Amino acid sequence: MAASFPPSIFSSSPSSSKLTSISSFSRDSSLHFRSRRMRKVRATILRENEKVVVEETFQPKASPDHEPPPPTSVEKWVIKIEQSINILLTESVIKVLDTLYHDRDYPRFFVLETIARVPYFAFMSVLHMYESFGWWRKSEYLKVHFAESWNEMHHLLIMEELGGNAWWFDRFLAQHIAIFYYFMTVFMYALSPRMAYHLSECVESHAFETYDKFIKEKGDELKQLPPSKIAVKYYTEEDLYLFDEFQTARLPNTRRPIIKNMYDVFMNIRDDEAEHCKTMKACQTHGNLRSPHDAYNETVSSEDDDIGCILPDAECEGIVDCIKKSITNKS
Ligand SMILES: [Fe+2]
Ligand SMILES: [Fe+2]
Repeated sequence: MAASFPPSIFSSSPSSSKLTSISSFSRDSSLHFRSRRMRKVRATILRENEKVVVEETFQPKASPDHEPPPPTSVEKWVIKIEQSINILLTESVIKVLDTLYHDRDYPRFFVLETIARVPYFAFMSVLHMYESFGWWRKSEYLKVHFAESWNEMHHLLIMEELGGNAWWFDRFLAQHIAIFYYFMTVFMYALSPRMAYHLSECVESHAFETYDKFIKEKGDELKQLPPSKIAVKYYTEEDLYLFDEFQTARLPNTRRPIIKNMYDVFMNIRDDEAEHCKTMKACQTHGNLRSPHDAYNETVSSEDDDIGCILPDAECEGIVDCIKKSITNKS
């Protein structure tokens, strides 16, 4: 069910240069990024047959600092059980959606997108709680998850613009699944962030496959349709800081879509889902997630000898680990 690709901080697309590490940034790259606010971003053309190959664009993590210890045999079993439950859950929901929406694409996408942004909000809720209790402070996780939810919100707005939410039943179903999914994700994330991130990876993987299939089936029709106004605004006219921020397997400023028709819109939504998938995969290794901008800024800061403002980090993996560390630190 879930796509299998190794964790990473950054990688480049197959068509771009093979930059796989922050430390390998060239001086030219640094100058390029420093000047990004000074000039208008130059868009790159999305090639018609370009396909996001997640396995190829996701390189092994570059920094050795966070290299996790290999899992014990007990942990391996726990991971297997967690992933089996997630796959079962995802496949069950997919079967229901296949039954209800086999011939109604836009309502199906509306339901999917309503559900899709829920886990990011749930992650942020739990992370805020940890921070309030002094158990955890990782601003990069909050920032990346907000950027992910911002991206998913625009997918949802596009589906609403296309009329996916016209029937009350679709809204009713999507909103009730979302409520259930929110509380389930909060509970799961508090117990096992790894499991919650894997479930999201399964959902994102399904979203990628759904859009990929739709593009292949309806590609010719979509090329004749004018683009969604919301998509044009989001992908080409707004500040793209948050757009870069959720794509943790890419360098900032390396993906700039051109939206000329609905085919371009769905291609980019599909590619967004692939980027979410990679980010969710990276999150399953504790401490592996980096904000693309923060990581880049660290590189520039080290070159300029300006470290800026650094918040102290406290770490924990789920509520059990948080309570254990909180008690241990006080004694
Ligand atoms: Fe989406
Ligand atoms: Fe998604």
